[in-house]
Amino acid sequence: MTDHDTQSALSFRAIRQSFPGLAGEPPLPVLNDISFEVPRGKFVSVIGPSGCGKSTLLQMAAGLLKQTAGQVFHNGILVSDVNRTIGFVPQQAQLLPWKTMIENVEFPLLLRGVKAAERRARAQQAVDKVDLTGFEGHYPYQLSGGMQKRASIARMLVYKPDTILMDEPFGALDAQTRMVMQHDLQTMLAAEGASVLFVTHDITEAVMLSDSVVVMSRRPARILAEVPIDLPRPRDMFEPHAIPGFAEAYDRVWSVFRSELKVRRAA
Ligand SMILES: Nc1ncnc2c1ncn2[C@@H]1O[C@H](COP(=O)(O)OP(=O)(O)OP(=O)(O)O)[C@@H](O)[C@H]1O
Ligand SMILES: [Mg+2]
Repeated sequence: MTDHDTQSALSFRAIRQSFPGLAGEPPLPVLNDISFEVPRGKFVSVIGPSGCGKSTLLQMAAGLLKQTAGQVFHNGILVSDVNRTIGFVPQQAQLLPWKTMIENVEFPLLLRGVKAAERRARAQQAVDKVDLTGFEGHYPYQLSGGMQKRASIARMLVYKPDTILMDEPFGALDAQTRMVMQHDLQTMLAAEGASVLFVTHDITEAVMLSDSVVVMSRRPARILAEVPIDLPRPRDMFEPHAIPGFAEAYDRVWSVFRSELKVRRAA
């Protein structure tokens, strides 16, 4: 293991992915030579056009999908099977509808054979952390969209992963709830010190949360730029524009990203 490996929570090396085409269609090349690192304790966001392969990358790190070529390392160890030591909040995080909120949060501990009393105590801690205290006995349909997202984040936090994958976790939320969730996530991470790989479509969100932003091209995707974000922490999620340096960081990311969008200029 090299020194480089031990400092990285995640390391993507020369990743390629293509999916078999439907009957008669040629294979679909999705990722084209993707290499980047998530250094330990850092927050890295990935942005890129819809369908460029962002979720595909997270699935590889979670060990749910085998890449066509290249390697993914988690804490220096090659990911070759389902990665149960990583925290994953998938794009469509589904809570089990027949279980209460706290039973959903406990579920990963049940799968790991943790005893009932300890399960409940640890789940309660995670529930408190995402501010869902008082809703333990509610079923998913009795929770708002934002609360369901919080529950799925608690379900991921319950086994204290050192590395976290989040796929547009706040995508479907209204702007106010989203800012509150960003604020809470930042506070939680400051306490836990986890490393995070975060997918989003939202440049403000990427800049506000990250230590660096990886900008991907259209499919077949390559990395257009990796933009370091050196804004001081903690950052006030409710006032991005009041943060010195925010506008410059946003413009750097946007100028790379917009080159990939087929934007027609107004006549
Ligand atoms: N299991 C699969 N089989 C075949 N094609 C797939 C599979 N998974 C993903 N794809 C294709 O790979 C491409 C990338 O998908 P992916 O979900 O990674 O995109 P994304 O960047 O996360 O997009 P979005 O921003 O819309 O979530 C898409 O064209 C998709 O159709
Ligand atoms: Mg996706």
